[in-house]
Amino acid sequence: MTRTASPLGGDAGLREAGHGARHVAIIMDGNGRWATKRFLPRAVGHQRGVEAVRRLVRAARGMGIEALTLYAFSTENWRRPEDEIADLMGLLKRFILSDLDEFAANGIRLKIIGDYKAFPADVVELIEGALARTAGNSGTTLAVALNYGSQDEIARAAARAAAKGAITPETIEAELDTADMPPLDLLIRTSGEIRLSNFLLWQAAYAELWFTDVLWPDFEPAHLEQALAHFAGRERRFGGR
Ligand code: IPE
Ligand code: IPE
Ligand code: MG
Repeated sequence: MTRTASPLGGDAGLREAGHGARHVAIIMDGNGRWATKRFLPRAVGHQRGVEAVRRLVRAARGMGIEALTLYAFSTENWRRPEDEIADLMGLLKRFILSDLDEFAANGIRLKIIGDYKAFPADVVELIEGALARTAGNSGTTLAVALNYGSQDEIARAAARAAAKGAITPETIEAELDTADMPPLDLLIRTSGEIRLSNFLLWQAAYAELWFTDVLWPDFEPAHLEQALAHFAGRERRFGGR
């Protein structure tokens, strides 16, 4: 295995976990197709998708990753029918209510990227309660992307950077929603689509990409282990040689 330590971050995770990935992000795609294949309503696919999230968060704590970022709702997902959006909001609320105690007990620090304040007031209130409750935790960071779009994030970051002074890659990066997270190492997308759909465009500049045909509700911790093993075998050059 040939590997260079990232100039953008430390290599503490590498020594600890072997694979070296500190920050992994996932585009959780394929809930609708999973349900349609079984002649079930899409809502059931989303429900099973939440179960996949729960399994993964539980398992990820033991995989030596510092941060896991999950794409749950994009700025473009508002284009979906109202009833599907309502289903997703309901699932998000129920997920926070059912799983927050476990996160808090396991040292998980919850973080939201994206402009979640555009969500309904009751959802925003639950999110803020969950953020406050886990803010002091120092275990795995679980970042959930809600009303997140990379273009929106970069525009917001650039505006804040401009208000403070010069616009440079560094000053923009310091204002991104992910500014307090380790650099993105590995970006995974399920369901066989080979595109980024406005997710972490800036952060993915030098991330390794891993695509799988597995539909999100079928995603198991073993698939993440497979992706991490793939990552461990990559030589990252960051433009050098
Ligand atoms: C991903 O599954 C979940 C969200 C985008 C909220 P999809 O709902 O996009 O499932 P497909 O792509 O239609 O199968
Ligand atoms: C990306 O999936 C967004 C999330 C997983 C939340 P989509 O299903 O919305 O992406 P497209 O429309 O197929 O590109
Ligand atoms: Mg999709």
